[in-house]
Amino acid sequence: MVILLQNPAFGVPQIRALTEIFNRKSAQLRDIMSREIGEGSRIDVFGWLRKMTLDVIGEAGFNYKFNALQPEGQTNDLEDAFTRLMHSPQSQRHNVTRLLQAEIPILAFLPAPGRKVVEEAREKMVNIAKKLLADSQADIKTGGVSGTQRDLLSLLVQSNTSNNIQEHQRLSDAEVIAQIPTFFVAGHESDTATAVALHALSIHPSVQSKLRDELSSLATDEPTMDELNSLPYLEKVIRETMRLYPPVGFSMREAMENDVLPLSKPYFDRYGKTYDSITIRKGTAIRIPISAVHRDKTIWGADAADFRPERWDNIPEAASVIPSVWANLMTFLAGPHNCIGFRFSLVEIKSILFTLVRAFEFEPAVPEDAIGFSPTPVRRPKVTTEPNGGNQLPLIVRPFLKT
Ligand code: HEM
Repeated sequence: MVILLQNPAFGVPQIRALTEIFNRKSAQLRDIMSREIGEGSRIDVFGWLRKMTLDVIGEAGFNYKFNALQPEGQTNDLEDAFTRLMHSPQSQRHNVTRLLQAEIPILAFLPAPGRKVVEEAREKMVNIAKKLLADSQADIKTGGVSGTQRDLLSLLVQSNTSNNIQEHQRLSDAEVIAQIPTFFVAGHESDTATAVALHALSIHPSVQSKLRDELSSLATDEPTMDELNSLPYLEKVIRETMRLYPPVGFSMREAMENDVLPLSKPYFDRYGKTYDSITIRKGTAIRIPISAVHRDKTIWGADAADFRPERWDNIPEAASVIPSVWANLMTFLAGPHNCIGFRFSLVEIKSILFTLVRAFEFEPAVPEDAIGFSPTPVRRPKVTTEPNGGNQLPLIVRPFLKT
């Protein structure tokens, strides 16, 4: 992973070059949704975003065309495997069991559920990964990374073969291949983030129209990365979405050494004894409660549970100590294993919201309290009153008609 982290593939210039792909795929999604809704109807926005973001990570990450954004019925093999692995009602039950197995050691002796589906998806991903790496290496041998080879894998392969890195830093082919499935999975988490942003906008119509006004102020359908980043209200809406509904709700770490963790505020035990630190033994599993930190009233104030993009005009001093790589939030975590794709994801989400919110109006399709989230680290949306619906986010979508 060293080389991935040192690699320029996730830097600002690379993401700027990928914005064309984000815009093109967003426009394709807009046109498909437009045909699907006619004058307005309920659609599963999450399902379409999932397909779109898979297409994006395929093309932007690996110069690979998933063609997931096809009319219903013409599905892609790997996309099918992903759906069964991560989004079906059965996979949700399997995920809960796997989560319990991770947290309660004795349960790990039970056979992991859904193993066949996991193995099938993994095999498909590894086969594609091998082919992608071979193609990318062949392209680079013949001509180097050209304008059309701006995908992250080509950049990685080029930098991996460069004379500027030391021998011990080079990844073997097997190591590069092992990274690719992680990217397929991690690289399309923008679907959850964008779906919950649209959910938040559907239940806050005044925020939705204020955002649409700002987005309409740009006289183009194909904004550059710098233009997208120049829209302050869009930035605030995304920050507020990522605060209130972080797609990754928690993470786990294991202490590698005995340690003592100092506390910013002391706590008392039941005998009234005060402690200003916690002793942690080597091997202790620690849960990092991302969602809880983002909704903590002692940090964000009494309205911490409310969706209020304006709070970003003036964030509380207490938020400045949250470990973070972006916006005083733990959405992309912090430290050596923070999310490598966070800049990629933010521009992708901006491009999708820019395109969809200018074209459509979004209203809730089910009561607000029927929208729930899977209990796994990645909190994908579902409808609690439709237990057989798998992951979904239904909304009533209508064409936005300028008056
Ligand atoms: C809104 C979208 C996203 C969110 C919320 C998100 C969040 C996260 C979080 C919390 C982690 C740390 C997990 C842990 O260590 O426990 C992580 C890791 C990672 N993310 Fe993302 N991510 C997003 C999008 C992306 C995209 C678009 C890519 C790739 C293009 C990506 C690639 C990765 C990779 C490779 C790692 C592993 C990094 C490492 O272990 O060193 N992510 N992500």
